[in-house]
Amino acid sequence: MQITSFEQYQEVYQQSVNEPEQFWGSIAENFVWKKKWDNVLSWNFTEPNIKWFEGAKLNITENCLDRHLLTDGDKPAIIWEPNSPEDDSVTLTYKMLHEQVCRFANVLKRNGAQKGDRICIYMPMVPELAIAVLACARIGAVHSVVFGGFSAKSIADRINDAACKLVITADGAYRGNKQIPLKDVIDDALIGCSTVEKCIVLTHVRTPVSMLKGRDVWWEDEVKHVNNVCEAEEMDAEDLLFILYTSGSTGKPKGVVHTCGGYMVYAGYTFSNVFNYQPGEVYFCTADIGWITGHSYIVYGPLSQGATSLIFEGIPTFPTPSRFWDIVEKHKVNTLYTAPTAIRSLMGFGDEPLVGKDLSSIRVLGSVGEPINEEAWHWFDEKIGHQKAPIVDTWWQTETGGIMISPIATVTPTKPSFATLPLPGIQPILVDENGNEIEGNGVNGNLCIKFPWPGMLRTTYGDHERCKLTYFSTYENLYFTGDGCLRDEDGYYRITGRVDDVLNVSGHRIGTAEVENAINMHAGVVESAVVGYPHDVKGQGIYAFVIFPAMHGDVELTKKDILQTVTRVIGAIAKPDKVLFVSGLPKTRSGKIMRRILRKIAEGDISNLGDISTLLDPNVVQEIIERASEKK
Ligand code: WT7
Repeated sequence: MQITSFEQYQEVYQQSVNEPEQFWGSIAENFVWKKKWDNVLSWNFTEPNIKWFEGAKLNITENCLDRHLLTDGDKPAIIWEPNSPEDDSVTLTYKMLHEQVCRFANVLKRNGAQKGDRICIYMPMVPELAIAVLACARIGAVHSVVFGGFSAKSIADRINDAACKLVITADGAYRGNKQIPLKDVIDDALIGCSTVEKCIVLTHVRTPVSMLKGRDVWWEDEVKHVNNVCEAEEMDAEDLLFILYTSGSTGKPKGVVHTCGGYMVYAGYTFSNVFNYQPGEVYFCTADIGWITGHSYIVYGPLSQGATSLIFEGIPTFPTPSRFWDIVEKHKVNTLYTAPTAIRSLMGFGDEPLVGKDLSSIRVLGSVGEPINEEAWHWFDEKIGHQKAPIVDTWWQTETGGIMISPIATVTPTKPSFATLPLPGIQPILVDENGNEIEGNGVNGNLCIKFPWPGMLRTTYGDHERCKLTYFSTYENLYFTGDGCLRDEDGYYRITGRVDDVLNVSGHRIGTAEVENAINMHAGVVESAVVGYPHDVKGQGIYAFVIFPAMHGDVELTKKDILQTVTRVIGAIAKPDKVLFVSGLPKTRSGKIMRRILRKIAEGDISNLGDISTLLDPNVVQEIIERASEKK
């Protein structure tokens, strides 16, 4: 199923558009099914109702584990590189991983988990996180992984939304020279979570934690009570595989739902093709399993293809900004898949961290999460790939399940800052505000997809209407991505960024409304408005305009308080980079905040604010401009 030439790509692409069912049916033949499908696809985008491989039965872990045992049982499935280079790395072969997944699956059963139950996972980047995820899939439980940087309140909201029965966590996590007290955070979260019956705790950092009798059990104790034989639960292709929460333009994160069959086919097919993965190669994705990139391209995609997936706990700059390059050299990494924010941050340290590092094993480079600027693209190409490794700039979303628009390594001619062309089966379309198709090349528009693909979301958990409203109602009969996009003279796609009220900070998606809600929880805050602005390393920074009338104490201290509030409510990733106290916000007569104006001010570009005559009180604009410039 690997495409090896550009001509072949063009042919396959045409076929995938002309005969999508035949195309995906034949791709699906490359996977293991307990029973084949009756029907490849039935769909409509109005409800929406999307079903792939209806009638088929499978278990994704048989595809990720069992099927490799005979031929590749002793091949490394996961290599784990710890936070500190002084600690040993760990290698799990497919045999070992299979055994541990089965064993832990039995632990889940022993603690009351059954097919269909939701299980929240809040863990550090250790092999046990992958084991926990796969063990859920083994027994047909639905995992909901929450990234280790989220606050107790964020976790509680997610647990309650999905009515999770179990939580899997660890005593703590390492992050550079910091330790994150995961179990303490979970304890805080669980105060408000009545559906949770059991909490399984892995020992990792060995910090003392409190264990609640009857609820909390140790991972290490539990695995002693079970054996390593666990039949894979038979799942319908459209049974839920996982929920992953993501931010949107309203305050509440949505639980994006992915199902077993289509997601597996899409993650596996795109992994194999985009990275041109070859047997025996070491593939290193620097993401956290807590994000969709980790789900699709650390766990399910690579393992379904029998790949060796290297995972890493820690940060690119600890103990030195050579950390990535040391890992590449040590494990002879062939593919490095990372984020523009990491590239820009490492670029900032100059060439010194690269001196004497052997990067000759690198064959393919990848980028994901946000637009990659040309400067970062060229640095990556020259300094890391030595101009010999194709860069795949992969555009996709939590909702798409897998990569959508991207070069295919060694096949698609690349162009700096372009995600290039749609993968087979993906039919992008650009539309104007009114939903009219913008045809031809050399045009800009809102990016939509007009035909289903196997990896697409099926619903938002517990609220199908919201799925319909967010993705399928803006434009009739189209899936709307929320991104703006350019299609250049060659028909190549360049994603220009979100066109809704969603920020992309260091590749993490953050809703402005969510941050505003958090800021407003501070007792002294009357109102706030949050916008993004260009940031050298993070891509976008968060700029908060805050009305805080009774400012008695120290302004700096108040700011710190507000940042702490945001950290407590959402997590440190949503902390504003700038806070400006103002006495009013620019609003229309109907009370709508004019973010366009605030964005201009945040960018420092006040030359052309556009028409402000429709504002309720045009004078506030002058005041905000003055305060913003005083601050600089
Ligand atoms: C948003 C999705 C997909 C995994 C990580 C993020 C932006 C993603 C690119 C890219 C330009 C990109 C888009 C998209 N984005 N990849 N290669 N070039 N922009 O997943 O949190 O669901 O965010 O990230 O704006 O809508 P996510």
